[in-house]
Amino acid sequence: MCGIVGYIGPRQAAGLLLEGLRRMEYRGYDSSGIAVVNGNGLKVRKAAGKLSVLEQELQDDMPSGTIGIGHTRWATHGAPTTPNAHPHTDQSGRIAVIHNGIIENSGSVRRALELRGHTFKSETDTEVLAHLVGEFYQGNLEEAVAMALREVEGAYGLAFISADEPGVLVAARKGSPLLVGVGEQEWFVASDASPLLQHTRSVVYMDDGEMAVLTREGYRIRNLETTRISKPVNQIDWDLAMVERNGHPHFMFKEICEQPESLHNTLRGHLLEDEGTARVSGLNLSDEELKQFERIIITACGTSWHSALIGEYMLEEMARIPVEVEYASEFRYRNPVVDQRTLVIGISQSGETADTLAAIREAKRRGARTVGLVNVVGSTIAREVDGGIYLHAGPEVGVASTKAFTSQVAALALITLRIARLRNLSILQGRQFIQALRLLPDKVAGILERAGEVEQLAERFLRNSTNALYLGRGVNFPVALEGALKLKEISYIHAEGYPAAEMKHGPIALIDENMPVVFIAPRDAVHSKIVSNIEEVKARGGKVIALINEGDKEIERLADATLTIPDTLDLLTPIVTSIPLQLLSYYVAVARGCNVDQPRNLAKSVTVE
Ligand code: M6R
Repeated sequence: MCGIVGYIGPRQAAGLLLEGLRRMEYRGYDSSGIAVVNGNGLKVRKAAGKLSVLEQELQDDMPSGTIGIGHTRWATHGAPTTPNAHPHTDQSGRIAVIHNGIIENSGSVRRALELRGHTFKSETDTEVLAHLVGEFYQGNLEEAVAMALREVEGAYGLAFISADEPGVLVAARKGSPLLVGVGEQEWFVASDASPLLQHTRSVVYMDDGEMAVLTREGYRIRNLETTRISKPVNQIDWDLAMVERNGHPHFMFKEICEQPESLHNTLRGHLLEDEGTARVSGLNLSDEELKQFERIIITACGTSWHSALIGEYMLEEMARIPVEVEYASEFRYRNPVVDQRTLVIGISQSGETADTLAAIREAKRRGARTVGLVNVVGSTIAREVDGGIYLHAGPEVGVASTKAFTSQVAALALITLRIARLRNLSILQGRQFIQALRLLPDKVAGILERAGEVEQLAERFLRNSTNALYLGRGVNFPVALEGALKLKEISYIHAEGYPAAEMKHGPIALIDENMPVVFIAPRDAVHSKIVSNIEEVKARGGKVIALINEGDKEIERLADATLTIPDTLDLLTPIVTSIPLQLLSYYVAVARGCNVDQPRNLAKSVTVE
């Protein structure tokens, strides 16, 4: 949700900023811009559309200067036009800002500024901020920014530069992620680590209410008053290759293919064969503490919410503890029953999703113990929860979440195992579960080897469809939801996920010979029921594509096409059934010529409410 990057050091800034924006384009991609300061003042260049439009415009006209800021936008206030693109400048045109977030009182501040003679070029909340800083400016950018931020309400990760102070970059954070990159006599700010990896792995994670002042001599962190804050420098363990496509046609495809390894990494170090349990020491909860919880709430958004639903099935089935799954955006605005005996698990790939973060804060406020399942190390959710599990799935760049989903399910399996062993699961059952978990990476690799079969199905059944239905039962109902979400978000085909038996309470009316229906039908406890549901679809002329286990003659006979998935424990089937559905949506989107990694209207990290 908007990516920001800033640089100060000995090198030319413009190229570094563009390269940084390229690596952060997944955060927003409807317009972009940069500003640099040189001996002739402030140079601002921006363009509507993808970053490539700006790059094209700058090809023969790269502004020089060794300090600068850059922005890639996901529009909130104002359409994705060039005037609304960042950076925005103040009334004098000598101060520029980039911003990720929303200034909530921008309307009233703007009206007050207009009464004092300010004129605005854009419809954005951010330009108001630039003008406010300009009004406070008396030769000290740092102080002007601090004064302006005391006047505004809302969320921001931002960076300012001024033509009058070519040696100072001022950044601030409240509610939107921001980190400082510490290089060799050069310093960066960025929304996430991806634009920094090429230059440094040393970062300082900023917290809400903090400002960073970067000069040519170094950096310091302070609050909005003047108090200096001492912060640790952290080392990022991701490397550059991990955020590059490495020969794959798309990030999404690369990330789908990485799942044997990402699953292995999620499980690594947690499985305790002898005890038949999982270590998950990062939860920071003793056995005694874990036993005392009376219920669990899992909260998340989007794909992470789907993995939460799978977690509900696992925890209730194996640990016999009541679980509720809440959309994070809903949880925070109702009056949930949460207290010290409630364990609240927040799931987030990015660790920055605003609604999930707010839900976790609300749970903490109500006295619950919070745990995070997060992929991005050092992200806000990871730092705010009481404990958690890092997914270690590696960077996920494609906007459609894939490997993070299977790693989330694996992490939920680890938590389930630990809690279940403390409640009612025998050591033998625990060991069997571990054995099944250990086999998953190889089983997933086996499915990926047969990606070509999925490509053919995509071409034959879905490429030219306008609608699709995904049906599953039990723990594979959330997989149906996830399969439908994957298809709609990257190929723009309308798709619905349903519990298979619910179909006859409404969606069955949609079925005709043009409706592809994807059934997730492993040979599990509800297999015979799903066979009946397939019969119902066939009786109405629907086209059935079924995910089945090897040798399932019954469904083979009924379905128009089948894809075989390997056997595993019923509760772990989502990890193997979700992979063909990821591939299916990918191949459909490619065949339809869609932008797989940057689908329209979306952004990877949703840092606004
Ligand atoms: O980073 P998070 O896991 O918190 O993100 C949650 C959703 O925004 C995300 O899963 C979204 O639904 C993806 N586009 C799905 O592919």
